[in-house]
Amino acid sequence: TTYKLLVLPGDGIGPEVMAEVEKIAAFLTYEGFVKFEVEKGLVGGSAYDVHRCAISEDDMERAQAADAVLLAAVGGPKWDNVPYELRPEAGLLRLRKDMQLFANLRPAICYPALADASSLKREVVDGLDLMIVRELTGGVYFGEPKQIIDLGNGQKRAIDTQVYDTYEIERIGRIAFELARKRRNKVTSSEKRNVMKSGVLWHEVISALHVREFPDVQLEHQLADALGMQLVRRPKQFDVIVTDNLFGDMLSDVASMLTGSLGMLPSASLGERNATTGARKALYEPVHGSAPDIAGKGIANPIAMISSLGMALRYSFNMDDLADRLDRSIARVLEKGLRTADIAGGATKTISTSEMGDAILEELKIA
Ligand code: NAI
Ligand code: MG
Repeated sequence: TTYKLLVLPGDGIGPEVMAEVEKIAAFLTYEGFVKFEVEKGLVGGSAYDVHRCAISEDDMERAQAADAVLLAAVGGPKWDNVPYELRPEAGLLRLRKDMQLFANLRPAICYPALADASSLKREVVDGLDLMIVRELTGGVYFGEPKQIIDLGNGQKRAIDTQVYDTYEIERIGRIAFELARKRRNKVTSSEKRNVMKSGVLWHEVISALHVREFPDVQLEHQLADALGMQLVRRPKQFDVIVTDNLFGDMLSDVASMLTGSLGMLPSASLGERNATTGARKALYEPVHGSAPDIAGKGIANPIAMISSLGMALRYSFNMDDLADRLDRSIARVLEKGLRTADIAGGATKTISTSEMGDAILEELKIA
């Protein structure tokens, strides 16, 4: 099989970190591990400069037709004054919306070699490997009514509405249980059923799905506030955490700080499975932004972007062995003490973006 990969380097450090992924993708194809057909597109400010829009219809079509989309990052001060609906982020939002990416996967992995960079003590995070599965298209961010009402007496009322239907909870739950089966077989579902009706339904639907389709997976429930506490107290108790849009947004940002660096964190956003082919739409991107402060200097850390390719191997192409091999290569490079500036800690010598890409490629050859 040939897999169509649409590569969207975007803005700022985007093209710099994406170049390292392209190197690795070319190597994997050349060595016969996997056959990638790589296409390139424009998104964000770079698309605005050429097409006067945040992503062209042509690139949108290519994204829909791709087996996986890799995006680096968009945005930067250069486009601060472009019209709101043309701003760089609009390209990203359009991709998520049109591809109907309802599941956001955010791993928090703490490589032992970097455990001292975490906000927590080494023993709390060393070897941490958890996955937050956040519902991305529903909940309070989108529910109606959503408005600010002028009450007329100098008072205003703001209304946001949390809405979840059974099918939305079931499909995100299914993603979490399926993931857990490939990992350590444990799911922690989180809501606040003590104060929210959507939490009551969430708990009920996840529990029923568990009994019906995934009785072999261990399931536990934690209220979202308590889970936030546990995430900082004893994060290694978790394998897969599944939660709604709002709690997932907050908890994944908390979890990212357990690992020490923004430059290390990948993410995946998945859509529904195609009923006939079994394939699903998917977008892979680092958690970090376009880092305009270091753009063009060749010092950005490419590991989050490279790990995003690893997630594509795992979740779009079912190539877990190759994904493991890539992860091992990254871990070994770190064990050797090779560091880009953002993860240097006390290290005196740092390496460039492309040197880091090359080092990972070298490990991949012998792994
Ligand atoms: P940022 O993630 O771009 O940068 C935050 C800090 O982390 C900066 O000091 C940066 O140099 C550093 N950093 C980030 N990634 C790094 C890497 N790979 N290697 C080394 N250092 C790295 O977030 P910020 O500064 O808030 O936003 C900058 C721009 O990026 C804005 O225009 C923002 O809108 C956009 N952005 C885009 C996102 C996306 O495309 N998904 C996500 C977040 C922000
Ligand atoms: Mg956030």
